[in-house]
Amino acid sequence: MTVAERDVNDDTIILGIETSCDETAAAVLRGPTSVLSSVVSSQVDLHARFGGVVPEVASRAHVELLTPVIAESLVEAGVDRGGFDAVAATYGPGLVGSLLIGLSAAKALALVHGVAFVGVNHLEAHLYAALIEEPEVEMPVVVLLVSGGHTLLALMNGPGDYRLLGSTLDDAAGEAFDKVARFLGLGYPGGPAIDHAAMQGDPEAIPFPRAMADEGYDFSFSGLKTAVVNHVRKHPEVDTRDVAASFQQAVVDVLVLKARRAAQAYHARGLCLAGGVAANSQLREATLDVCVGEGLRALLPGRSYCTDNAAMVASAGWHRLRSDGPSPLSLAAEPGLSLPDGT
Ligand code: KG4
Ligand code: ZN
Repeated sequence: MTVAERDVNDDTIILGIETSCDETAAAVLRGPTSVLSSVVSSQVDLHARFGGVVPEVASRAHVELLTPVIAESLVEAGVDRGGFDAVAATYGPGLVGSLLIGLSAAKALALVHGVAFVGVNHLEAHLYAALIEEPEVEMPVVVLLVSGGHTLLALMNGPGDYRLLGSTLDDAAGEAFDKVARFLGLGYPGGPAIDHAAMQGDPEAIPFPRAMADEGYDFSFSGLKTAVVNHVRKHPEVDTRDVAASFQQAVVDVLVLKARRAAQAYHARGLCLAGGVAANSQLREATLDVCVGEGLRALLPGRSYCTDNAAMVASAGWHRLRSDGPSPLSLAAEPGLSLPDGT
């Protein structure tokens, strides 16, 4: 009996596959939050010498890594080949060549083993990441998703029920970290390098702009990046650690200001961080401060669930399967997929 023919429930075993960017990942979950295994193979070292993700290099690496990563996730979970009820894979947004590899593998596995296939929106998966660790959280929750490719603020009322409040008009927050770090000669990926340098710098040394601070829930970071470049060119003697700290403070101030405003406006019970930038120490500290001040539950997932992983894909897949049933095997990769508004 396949999952399509019976209820999706807490015993449903789901294999998740994630290949949208530069992490090759597979995970096995029982139900929406019980993680039996979660294997992530990062390609960060492969891309470091190029200073960013090279799509062709990423696709080739996914081809090499995906099968062993899936095999490892099944062994670690103690699940036989075919011992799963469904296969979930990210179908967008992301790099098309990378998405196709995970998607094709998932469809083939579903077909061979006669189980359901379900396509997952990567952004939706990030929203579920925090709930894996804290499934009993009270809704609604404001989610700030900040990664190398995305920056968005969403209101989550429950699984599959969310509303996009705002997003970036230009660079993603992580992209701004990466570009500024490259300009300052701090290396790739830039976020952790700036985070580290900022610990020894003065966040108030340079008054960088807080773009769109008074306007709605959208973000803009390209002006801030230009301000950093202009300041360093004008003051070549400036201490890089002060630049890093002041830049980071400007990013964090705007992110947290808008998240707090959204939490107040929508009477949220909690505030949740997601995406790679959620690992930033200053952002975590500022989010905790806001939560204490506003009486909100702070949902700060561990680093392994902030960055791209397949556990969140399997979790989102479980919910999608329950609400909409399986996806057709003809489902195409959608590199520009956005977060659906509502269910
Ligand atoms: O979610 P993620 O692993 O991949 C995607 O972009 O989908 O996020 C990677 C991004 C990079 O831009 C990286 O510089 C940033 O997250 N990042 C950080 C930190 N750690 C990773 N940004 C700021 N502070 C950090 N500690
Ligand atoms: Zn991501």
